[in-house]
Amino acid sequence: MEAIVIEKLLSKPSEMTVTKIPIPTPGPGQVLVRIKAVGSNFFDILLIQGKYQHKPPLPFIPGSEFSGEVISAHSSVKKFKVGDRVFGSVPDGAYAEYACANENMIFKIPSRLSFDEAAGIYVTYPTSYAALVLRASLKSSETVLVLAAAGGVGFAAVQIAKALGAKVIAAVGSESKFDICTRLGGADHVINYTDKDWTQQVLKLTNGRGADVIYDPVGLIETSLKCIAWNGRALVVGFAGGNIEKIASNRILLKNVSVVGIHWGAYLRNEAEAIPKVWEGIFELIETDKLTPLIYQPTFTGLENAYKALDTIASRKSYGKVVVKPSKTHKL
Ligand SMILES: NC(=O)c1ccc[n+]([C@@H]2O[C@H](COP(=O)([O-])OP(=O)(O)OC[C@H]3O[C@@H](n4cnc5c(N)ncnc54)[C@H](OP(=O)(O)O)[C@@H]3O)[C@@H](O)[C@H]2O)c1
Repeated sequence: MEAIVIEKLLSKPSEMTVTKIPIPTPGPGQVLVRIKAVGSNFFDILLIQGKYQHKPPLPFIPGSEFSGEVISAHSSVKKFKVGDRVFGSVPDGAYAEYACANENMIFKIPSRLSFDEAAGIYVTYPTSYAALVLRASLKSSETVLVLAAAGGVGFAAVQIAKALGAKVIAAVGSESKFDICTRLGGADHVINYTDKDWTQQVLKLTNGRGADVIYDPVGLIETSLKCIAWNGRALVVGFAGGNIEKIASNRILLKNVSVVGIHWGAYLRNEAEAIPKVWEGIFELIETDKLTPLIYQPTFTGLENAYKALDTIASRKSYGKVVVKPSKTHKL
C-alpha cells in the first residue's frame, strides 16, 4: 500500500514523500480499515517539523483522524464487523491507504454523515465540546467569543455553542470567512480580529459586559481579556498564531477571570471517565441535525497531494476541515 512515511523531520509539508509499505495486520482488539478520508489538522504541520508537544519516534506516518471502512477484524474484536463505516484515530497515522485501528479509538459513522464529513470529527469536535462544556461550563444564557471561528476547532466551537443555546460572536482573520460563520455556522455576529479595535467591537456587541467565554485556538488570551465579562472563562486551546503568550496576571484578577486549558488528547491518560460523556453529547447533536461538519472545497485526492491540504491550512485560506482521500483505486 501507499503511505506517507516521515523518515526525518521536515521543514515544510511539500517535502513529504509517498512510500510503498506492506498492509499492516490487525492485532488483538484491532480492525484493518481502508481509509477513505483523512481530516487534516494544523498540528500535523507541527508534527512533521518536530515542533508539536507530542513527538512520535521516527519513522512515523502522520495524520491523526480518519474515516474508512472495516475490511477485516481480529477474532477478539466484538464491536465492529467487516463493512462497517467508521471514524476515529489510528496509532500509526492515517496518511495511508490502510491502517490498523484499536476498537476503542473508533466509532461507527452516524448514517447521515458522508466519509468526508466524518473524517474530521474525532479530534476537532470533542476538543471544542470538552472545552465549552467540561472546562468552561457554558450556559445557554451566555455569550461566547470564538477566535479563528472558521477554522477546524473554531467552527466546531461555533456550532456546538449555538447548539447549546448560547450567543456566539465569531472572530476571523478575513472578511471572506464572515459568511461561513454566520450562514453555515449560525454565529450571531462576526468580526475581523485583525481590526485594531476588535475588542471594542466585542464590548459594543455585548453592551459593554464582554464575552462570558472566550475560545482561543490562536494565542490571543492577553488581548481577549480586554473584552471578557466578570467571572469570564478564557479557554487556552492552541497557538495557531505561532506565539505562546505570557499573560499579565493582574488582568486575570481584575474581572474574576478563569484562564482554563484544554488538552483533549491527554484525557485518555488522565481522565478517561470523562470521554463517554463528551461523545454522548456530540452524537446527540449530530443525530438531531445540530452539528454537520463543514468540509473545505476542494478535497485533495492521492497522498501525493496531501501536502496541498497542509499548505492550505498554513496559508489561512482553509475553513472547516481540509480532507485528503488517500487512494484513487483501493485495490487490496
Ligand atoms: N487543545 C487541544 O486539545 C487541541 C486539539 C486540536 C487542535 N488544537 C490546536 O488548535 C489550533 C487550531 O487548530 P485547527 O486544526 O483548528 O487549525 P485550522 O483549521 O488551521 O485553523 C486555525 C486558524 O487559526 C487562524 N490563524 C491565526 N494566525 C494564524 C497563523 N499565523 N497561521 C495559521 N493560522 C492562523 C486562521 O484563521 P483566521 O484566518 O480566521 O485568523 C486559521 O484558519 C492549533 O494550534 C492546534 O494545535 C488544540
